[in-house]
Amino acid sequence: MCGIVGYIGNRSASGVLLDGLKRLEYRGYDSSGLAVLCDGKLNLRRSVGKILNLRALLTEQPLKGGVGLGHTRWATHGVPSEQNAHPHTDCSKRFVVVHNGIIENYSILKHNLIKKGHRFESQTDTEVIAHLLEEAWGKKNFLEKEYLDAVRGALNQLEGAFALGILCVDFPELLVAARRDCPLVLGVGKNENFVASDIPALLHATKKVVYLEQNEVALVRPKSIECFNLDGYRVKKEVVTVRLNPLQAEKANYKHFMLKEIMEQNIAIQDTLRGRLFAEAGELRLNLDLRENFLKQIDRITLIACGTSYHAALVGRYYFEALAKIPVTVEIASEFRYRDTFLGKKDLAIYISQSGETADTLAALRKNKKMGVKNLAICNVLGSSLAREADTTFFTHCGPEIGVASTKAFTGQLTALLLLAIHVGMTRGALEGKEAKELLNQFLKLPAWIRQTCALSKKIKTLARRFIGKDHFLYLGRNLNYPIALEGALKLKEVSYIHAEGYPAGEMKHGPIALINREMPLVALVTESPVYDKICSNIEEAKARGGTVIAIATEGDKAIRKKVSDVLYVPKAPDIFSPMINVIPLQLFAYHVADLRGCDVDCPRNLAKSVTVE
Ligand code: G6P
Repeated sequence: MCGIVGYIGNRSASGVLLDGLKRLEYRGYDSSGLAVLCDGKLNLRRSVGKILNLRALLTEQPLKGGVGLGHTRWATHGVPSEQNAHPHTDCSKRFVVVHNGIIENYSILKHNLIKKGHRFESQTDTEVIAHLLEEAWGKKNFLEKEYLDAVRGALNQLEGAFALGILCVDFPELLVAARRDCPLVLGVGKNENFVASDIPALLHATKKVVYLEQNEVALVRPKSIECFNLDGYRVKKEVVTVRLNPLQAEKANYKHFMLKEIMEQNIAIQDTLRGRLFAEAGELRLNLDLRENFLKQIDRITLIACGTSYHAALVGRYYFEALAKIPVTVEIASEFRYRDTFLGKKDLAIYISQSGETADTLAALRKNKKMGVKNLAICNVLGSSLAREADTTFFTHCGPEIGVASTKAFTGQLTALLLLAIHVGMTRGALEGKEAKELLNQFLKLPAWIRQTCALSKKIKTLARRFIGKDHFLYLGRNLNYPIALEGALKLKEVSYIHAEGYPAGEMKHGPIALINREMPLVALVTESPVYDKICSNIEEAKARGGTVIAIATEGDKAIRKKVSDVLYVPKAPDIFSPMINVIPLQLFAYHVADLRGCDVDCPRNLAKSVTVE
């Protein structure tokens, strides 16, 4: 979703901003723009489409100056166009604003501003902020204090979510940043400072960051950063050194981030397990603020998430039910937040989010917090809003995930959920020591199983070539692998734009079977499990109707060859680990189909990596 970069220092701002925007590309966008302040004038460059276009425009019409704002826009109000691209200014071109989020009361604010004579140039909600500042400025000479009062005054009128960067021609040494419900970090440099939506945009310049909290305003100057709340009181902030390596956010020798992130899943899982799994001792050290007594007393676990993380939650249900023998509910955050829900002191709510910034997941957390529910987050991003607001966080430590379609973060989430389920099971006495130890020992083999499965990539590319012309796919799985069928279908539609549906194989006869013909290939997850025979019957039913079936099966299963047209063999492993293994051929299939169809794999159309608005 929209990306913000701000710079103030003695380098040329446009180069720094363009570089930062490039690093935020993965968030998803449809237009981009820059504003740079030079000799008391604000100069803007904006363009539709990829950052390449903005770069070309800047080559033709360069911008000079050491302070500026950059933005990638993911359209919410108004089509992607140059006029709607950020930055936005007021009538007098005195203020310039970049914004991530949605101003929910913008129509009424806009209506009032128009009545007062303001002229709007875009259809965006953002533009009202520049005009609100202009309205506060009036015709008088502004002192810095009045400027800041005007900023606070404008922000106090806004309903909704925002991360903002603001510049004013009268204060060329001051960049203002503010946030509510959308992420924003400040980068601390030497005689230069930065603002960004996300840390990967800063890593090449600095590893020292300040996290801006809810309703805080930062005054960023080349040599200082000061923070205030919306009432004008100063807040003390800590400078945090992030441990990420900038190379983790690079493509290395891979054609796309998505492929790199699929192929490095064995390492990502090792990183999730590191320091937590002590198989020999039969012990887990999760270092979470979850008291034994509390875990023994809870009546229910609720897993809440969106997108791919929701599919991880669906697998998590099987894990907790099977290993901890506890009832589990799984919730889509955007639905949960508006329902009458009844969680209380005997519930544990677990929020799963790669980014930790998904607006609906955060809203669900805030709703439950008010009800006194114990909240645990599973999250990949240190310092994210979810991690800061939850009572305790299990960090997956998968490294930055840049491809919009989530891959390694998903297997990291499954790993975290399985570890947690074992931990809750052991604590509640549902899982015997011997059984737990056996499971922990098997866990150590998971990275190797993943590595072997990734070696299928070449074979999958050859297979993908035969299917790139299809318009529809059906993915089938049962039990633990039903959510994997959903995830496989989601991956394919996200990156290749082919319509795909995931279905619990047993439900096929209640509808989707009507769709099956030669033109509708099926992907069946049919690895060794207690429901193996059941899925084989479902495959027969599909085949009898002319369906072409690709099976994901266990190495050594010769019988399956006779039943389907293609088989991808994965290593033999206990069923409980099959979701992490089986999803890999599906990720690779989606990737290769999309790449062969010439799709923009890392930044699929209309999608955003981090959905910071409702
Ligand atoms: C977006 C991304 C998905 C992701 C979902 C939830 O839709 O494109 O890949 O699964 O948001 O994101 P989260 O960061 O909360 O896991």
